[in-house]
Amino acid sequence: MNLISILDLKDWKAVLDDARKMKRAHPLTYLRQRTLGLVFEKASTRTRVSFEVAMTQLGGHAIYLDWKSSQLGRGESIKDTARVLGRYLDGVVMRARSHRDVVELGSHAAIPVINGLSDLEHPCQALADLFTIREREKGFGGVKLAYVGDGNNVCNSLLLGSAMVGMDMVVATPKGYAPPRDIVNRAKKLAAKTGSRVELLRDPAKAVEGADYLYTDVWVSMGQEKEEAERMRAFQDFQVNRKLVEQAGNPLIMHCLPAHRGLEITDDVLDGKRSIVLDQAENRLHVQKALLVYLLKRNKSER
Ligand code: CP
Ligand code: NVA
Repeated sequence: MNLISILDLKDWKAVLDDARKMKRAHPLTYLRQRTLGLVFEKASTRTRVSFEVAMTQLGGHAIYLDWKSSQLGRGESIKDTARVLGRYLDGVVMRARSHRDVVELGSHAAIPVINGLSDLEHPCQALADLFTIREREKGFGGVKLAYVGDGNNVCNSLLLGSAMVGMDMVVATPKGYAPPRDIVNRAKKLAAKTGSRVELLRDPAKAVEGADYLYTDVWVSMGQEKEEAERMRAFQDFQVNRKLVEQAGNPLIMHCLPAHRGLEITDDVLDGKRSIVLDQAENRLHVQKALLVYLLKRNKSER
């Protein structure tokens, strides 16, 4: 089984429950002698370190493979890479420019493939974010997450994830930067089943009204550097600052990090008492440990 979209994880409840247990104690032996590969085409601090530490704490090992210094950088196909890596490794995390490459790796590797961020989704981040919210709530029903900024990979996984667990999510983006229609449609369909709400707005002040959690992410994601000037103009009124936080009614503040201080979020809000961004970062480790045990320990025939 792969985790390419957050919706691949039907057993999200069990994985989040295990993550809660693993947060309290270090399980040392679950993945003894297992090896995880990290194939990264883009920069990373949290995803790389949390997966490497997760494997250490589980008694296994991780190997980081930089795209450029591997044969992928010289043109070896994803298909051949997947088939070879499947002969050595027990699982692979891939961070890629193109979502299609992660799907391609997943379809040719005989081992679990985890999306460590693509242009379309960031499922591990959203799972850790759901865990971070769940730690503070009795359940997801009636909880409102407001997202202000770019309808990007993080926003997409949060939309699908919120709908999957039954949490309300309202997104405010500038015109032209809304999440893809297909993601929104899937989230709305799922939300109808789980009894939650998905709403897309243009007005940040309206979107944040009564929010329990207020989330933002960078205006320029990795790979979009050429669009920087036009994005700076488009997102000007979408900053998470004290005024917006007050309009929301003092929600908890979330950001996947890295943050561009003074752009999508101000220093005082990011570092303020209501900020839970470091808990989000820490929880990447606990949730990914549970996820790795879930995916790598499954019977090979189930893959
Ligand atoms: N949030 C996150 O994925 O951070 P990195 O880019 O540092 O991995
Ligand atoms: N949306 C950001 C998330 C980084 C963790 C990016 O893709 O660069």
